[in-house]
Amino acid sequence: MRLSALVLVTLLLSAAPAQAVVGGREAPDTPWAVALYDARGNFFCGGVLVEAQKVLTAAHCTIEHATLQDRDRRPADLRVVVGRRDLDTKAGRQVAVREIRRHPEFRSVVDGDDVASLTLAEPVPFQPLRVGEARAGDLATVLGWGRTTEGAPPSRTLRQVDLPVLADAECRKAVNGYRPDAMLCAGYPQGGRDACEGDSGGPLVVDGLLVGVVSYGHGCARAGEPGVYTRVSRYLGEL
Ligand code: ARG
Repeated sequence: MRLSALVLVTLLLSAAPAQAVVGGREAPDTPWAVALYDARGNFFCGGVLVEAQKVLTAAHCTIEHATLQDRDRRPADLRVVVGRRDLDTKAGRQVAVREIRRHPEFRSVVDGDDVASLTLAEPVPFQPLRVGEARAGDLATVLGWGRTTEGAPPSRTLRQVDLPVLADAECRKAVNGYRPDAMLCAGYPQGGRDACEGDSGGPLVVDGLLVGVVSYGHGCARAGEPGVYTRVSRYLGEL
């Protein structure tokens, strides 16, 4: 009886529309999850409000991949959208950015230090998220407006999915150049749930605390390919 109930639940879960973020569901009200837009009005990354006037995101989100060469995004090119789960609404507000601080050591996502802070032009009246430490085995939640499968367009509504934080030894095996001091990895061995393109810069949360920022992965939700996150606690005071 127990077993068949488990099988049924598993079947129901796997039959549910595989979406998110990959394999997730619509997020509840999370005022600290923010969306980053460029000056042309295109959504390009997630971020997380950590103070009334400060957003953390991924360092690679502060670089624009133009056709011929990469260019630094400038504060004037950025808009932070706060308090809007459905990007097709006018909920919340759009705020300008005064300053971008990208981690000085950032070179490429695989080398880590993939974190940046954005100082907002004004404080916003939304609840920020405090930073905490993740431990192996924690069940973490990642949120974003990223693709719901590798080939899909980004989502218009904020989604989230729960993932276990893996032990550093597991991350080392799965991720080339994994840096335990500066990175986290999370995912199920069989895949199926993950962040994806467009989720970068967005929050990974454990017990109501920010533990990571979406950095990179190989494809999305593939078996044996956990997602890689910047270990935010390590960068406190640095940005
Ligand atoms: N680099 C991606 C972005 O810019 C994030 C990818 C995360 N991928 C993953 N499989 N966890 O949005």
